[in-house]
Amino acid sequence: MHTNGPARGTSRRGFLGSCGTAIAVPYFFSRARTLADETRSPSDRFSIGLIGAGGMGVFNLEAAAKWIDVVAVADVDAGRAAAAAAKLSGGKAAVHDDYRRILERKDIDVLHIATPDHWHAKILVEALLAGKDVYCEKPLTLTIDEGKIIRRVQKETGRIVQVGTQQRSTFPLFVTAMALVAEGRLGRINRVQASIGNAPTSPSIPVVSVPKELDWDRWLGPAPAAEYRFLPATPVMGKDGKPAPAQPHTNGHYEFRWWYEYSGGKLTDWGAHHVDIASWALQLNGQTAGPTSIGGLARHPVDFKDGMPVQRDRYNTATEFHFTVNFPGGTTMIIRHDADNGVLIEGDKGRLFVNRRKLAGGVVDALKDDPLPEAAVARVYKNLPMEDNERKAHWACFLHCVKSRAEPISDVHSHMKMLNICHLAGISARLGRHLEWDDAAEQITGDDAAAAMMARPSRKGYEIEMG
Ligand SMILES: NC(=O)c1ccc[n+]([C@@H]2O[C@H](COP(=O)([O-])OP(=O)(O)OC[C@H]3O[C@@H](n4cnc5c(N)ncnc54)[C@H](O)[C@@H]3O)[C@@H](O)[C@H]2O)c1
Repeated sequence: MHTNGPARGTSRRGFLGSCGTAIAVPYFFSRARTLADETRSPSDRFSIGLIGAGGMGVFNLEAAAKWIDVVAVADVDAGRAAAAAAKLSGGKAAVHDDYRRILERKDIDVLHIATPDHWHAKILVEALLAGKDVYCEKPLTLTIDEGKIIRRVQKETGRIVQVGTQQRSTFPLFVTAMALVAEGRLGRINRVQASIGNAPTSPSIPVVSVPKELDWDRWLGPAPAAEYRFLPATPVMGKDGKPAPAQPHTNGHYEFRWWYEYSGGKLTDWGAHHVDIASWALQLNGQTAGPTSIGGLARHPVDFKDGMPVQRDRYNTATEFHFTVNFPGGTTMIIRHDADNGVLIEGDKGRLFVNRRKLAGGVVDALKDDPLPEAAVARVYKNLPMEDNERKAHWACFLHCVKSRAEPISDVHSHMKMLNICHLAGISARLGRHLEWDDAAEQITGDDAAAAMMARPSRKGYEIEMG
């Protein structure tokens, strides 16, 4: 159970200290209101439909369990749908193979979408048009133009959308970092760096028959037709002499993220987290204009022709990369694979580093003598209710917004602005050249081939249904 006070058995100072550099910041667990206070009676619980019952869909709804009842589950893998319904609802939830059956239900107003990335835009837009509020996993899109559609539909329908970038709800690490930026402790920010790690490679993955419980054609959906590939995991020995967990290679479950057909690789999978934090920092520092250009270097495990991989049998997303994104006034954002995973924020008065385990830097040490004002963190978090665990906090924020109709902390508009940067990096990587960008028009300029990659054709029958 979350509390309004510090974690059980710790002083506020002790709890904060246990999360990284010892930072004495007496603020955010002092807030009077959490979602638990708002959701007391059974009638206050939320009936949720889950679309995409894989690792993240189940994990997320387990985190939100104390506030929700899962009443319907849809997955194109019948085995996964049934297993999720059993785990999340004791088998009470209705099980569907087609997400549209959930969209039709008038008794379900709130959805969680956790399909692979290539399905997000289509299902999200159709869900908003069907009148649902949605917690949708990141990244919301595969292309820049999909983002324009989502933003328009969200604005027109007024539905609540929380993006699954839960780092925005991470107290005290990322949120304290943002409060330090917003309070001007680093001065004017002139450089941010998102280091997001490298993507794996694979051997050649053979075409095999599709498991009988998986509807592969519907799994592919809007993506180009492709055969199903799978190579079982090769057992490896851990340092302790015991078998270590090993991942099979496939173009299907989980591993879809290493194929441009279904994802943007690390540039969107982790870019959606750390480029988001880097972009949030710039925005809080008064940088409202978006980037003007991007360039850099990327290495892929296969050859590319006209921006598309020529080999079809193995992972194809960038394994190594270093990009510089240029903003007006000389501010730069670096996106790279090879520094410590996290975000470095540099201003003319100081710098800080933040990741999921630590917050460090001179401005952090200085908090001992000069703590942040009580309201600073609350303000950065849009004065939304806070919980003491990032996954729960992100869900609490979403469900509070469903009730209050406030804008969640991971709103579609800021998400699209930062995802444009991730997609630009992906296009630059695939074409191997510098790109110019008109942020007001949201358009790549002076390069027709690159501009054409702002959209992708949908497979026939899987276009977004605009009603
Ligand atoms: N926020 C985070 O930290 C975080 C972490 C991991 C994954 N994710 C995101 O969550 C999403 C899912 O990732 P995952 O690792 O759980 O993948 P996964 O492959 O384990 O699960 C995806 C599920 O969606 C199902 N699916 C595919 N098409 C569908 C459709 N049309 N209708 C219904 N179900 C469909 C698949 O069969 C599969 O069961 C991805 O977008 C990923 O980026 C976010």
